[in-house]
Order: sequence, then C-alpha cells, then structure tokens
Amino acid sequence: MIIAMDGPAASGKGTLAKRVALHYSLPHLDTGLLYRAVGRDALARGVALDDAEALAQVASGLQVATLDDPELRTAGAGEAASQVARHPAVRAVLLTYQRHFASGEVGAVLDGRDIGTVICPDADAKLFVTATPEVRAKRRFLELADRGVDVAEEAVLADIRARDERDSTRGASPLVQAPDAVLLDTTNLSIDAAFRAALDLIEAAMSRAGRAG
Ligand code: C5P
Repeated sequence: MIIAMDGPAASGKGTLAKRVALHYSLPHLDTGLLYRAVGRDALARGVALDDAEALAQVASGLQVATLDDPELRTAGAGEAASQVARHPAVRAVLLTYQRHFASGEVGAVLDGRDIGTVICPDADAKLFVTATPEVRAKRRFLELADRGVDVAEEAVLADIRARDERDSTRGASPLVQAPDAVLLDTTNLSIDAAFRAALDLIEAAMSRAGRAG
C-alpha cells in the first residue's frame, strides 16, 4: 500500500504523513529532507546551488543516515532545498532512492511535492494537502517561536510565498496536484480533524481501488 501526500510548505502534510504511516504501520519518508540534505552538503562543500552537475554528484553521495540532522529543519535549509530541487539532474538521482523506498514489501507513505505525479504515479491513495499561505505562515511561525527562533511572522509568510512560487513554476516536477489526487484543505482544521479527514479520504481511495484499508 503506497500513500502519496503532496502539498506546499507548512501545509501540515509532514505531520499528517507521519500519523498516517503510524496508523497503517507503514514506513514513512519525508522527501523534503533529501533535498534539504543535498542543500546542506552542497553549502558545506562550497558547491554553488546553480551548478547542476556538481549538485547531482552531491546527491549521489548523500548519506541517508544524516537525515535526522536538526539543521535540516531550519528555514535556511528549506530555502537551499528549494534551489537545488530545481535541477532535473538532482531530482533524477533522488528519484531512484525514493522509488526504492516505496517498493518495500508493505509499501510506504511518502510526502513531498511530486510523489503523486512523478515518484509514485500508481500510488494506492494520493492526497494533496493545502492551506492558505497566511495560515501556513502562522503555523510555521508558532512552531519556530516554540523552538525559540526569533523571527517575524511577515518574514515567514514572505519565505512561504517565495518557496510556493519557485516550487510551482519550475520546469522540473513542479508542485501540482495530480489529476487523481484528492484535495485536503487544512485551513480551518485542527491537526486531529485533518488526520481524521485524511484517513477518510485514504479509506475512500482504497475502496475505489478495490482494497481493504
Ligand atoms: O517539504 P520541505 O519544505 O521539507 O521541502 C523543502 C524543499 O524541497 C521544497 O521547497 C521543494 O523545493 C523541495 N522538494 C521537492 N520535491 C519533493 C520534496 C521537496 O522539490 N518531493
């Protein structure tokens, strides 16, 4: 059983994907971490974020054991990730890892931007998780404040808008809802309500596909 959860930054897809994976006892991959780690490694080695060939090499050498690095959760890492993610050569390297992860015996939950469109087009259930930019910025701001990061909410909103624009307009695997994905708008939902809605949508997709949940 493969569940694809795509959507823009801070839409709640990561938290939802984690809970959905736990619910179905499936492995979970936050694919944004792969791009964030390539950005981190590139900056550490002085590789320019527009040097596609060198970035693809960095991606090839990525150590997945380093994906739990807290540094990867920073806004700077998100920005670097969105820059390296524009390059098809980088995406091609990371595609192999993601498809391999999804091809395990029990399946997996993957969250990102292009899971339903490119990585797992045959996923059993596809959700496109979204919320207004203002609500996403508020959530991200509160999360950062909670971690003691001092940042203005307007700056978080500007960052989210810039990332949305770059992710949606790039040529390589842009952020777009797959035609067969179901939309989950979390703007007015608590995380618990969003989780219940996600499960309902997944169960409905499963029964459409003729599978028991
Ligand atoms: O989801 P997260 O905010 O961690 O992703 C960081 C960046 O990585 C995104 O802004 C996007 O540019 C890129 N990304 C991507 N494809 C994915 C996951 C993330 O292009 N499947």
